[in-house]
Amino acid sequence: MNRDELLEALRFYEDLGITDLYRSSGGPGTLVPPGSALPDQGVRRGSGDPPHPPLLPLAPTDDALEKIQQDIGLDCRRCRLCEQRSKIVFGVGNPQAGLVFVGEGPGADEDAQGIPFVGRAGQLLTQMIDNTAAKEGIPIRRADVYICNVVKCRPPENRTPLPDEMEICGEYLFRQLMVIRPKAIVALGSTAAKALLATKDGVTRLRGRWHQWRDIPLIVTYHPSYLLRPYNQNAKREAWEDLKTVLHFVYD
Ligand code: URA
Repeated sequence: MNRDELLEALRFYEDLGITDLYRSSGGPGTLVPPGSALPDQGVRRGSGDPPHPPLLPLAPTDDALEKIQQDIGLDCRRCRLCEQRSKIVFGVGNPQAGLVFVGEGPGADEDAQGIPFVGRAGQLLTQMIDNTAAKEGIPIRRADVYICNVVKCRPPENRTPLPDEMEICGEYLFRQLMVIRPKAIVALGSTAAKALLATKDGVTRLRGRWHQWRDIPLIVTYHPSYLLRPYNQNAKREAWEDLKTVLHFVYD
């Protein structure tokens, strides 16, 4: 990263109100409002438009987060990810949250603590939520949303979860989402997008417009780990814009 890029990166984080910077992070942002189209309906939408009304309402459920966690059990052995994990990472946050963030799977810090998004990527996610909300005048913090992953156990060496692992654990993710019934979902990265939208498309193709998981509006954005890599200035701008869009949609 050259000096200009570094300055631009610092300005971007300053704009977000982020002052604690990681060594390898940084990246500036201009914001491209998602002019969104719901792919299921093919309707062009303006940047400020909320998603369309539900097409397929979710059935009411008598399920509960505690029951899902019990069903997973303390020593789930339904897939090979059990072999090297330390802790099952179920999810964290407000069970009645209006907004749910879905990541890929726990990393080393999450595996050690049993809490999603507590490592470097998690700290960036926390700062993005807290600082973007503050800057936009939206009175929420990380603890007010709900955060979970597609797979609940750490894949060895942080590899991408395999299709069968995603399918087995995806059942619990879907139940979590149905219980919480948030006003919107943010899929962080292409693994979450794949699990929730059954698509092979990457984030670049999917972001910038509204999708739906069942009847819940969903936005796809970059995974915070990707944003921590250098040379992703455009992605950082876009992630910030995605977050602003979804925060205003849920909390205005
Ligand atoms: N990356 C994820 O996808 N989830 C976490 O919980 C942490 C890092």
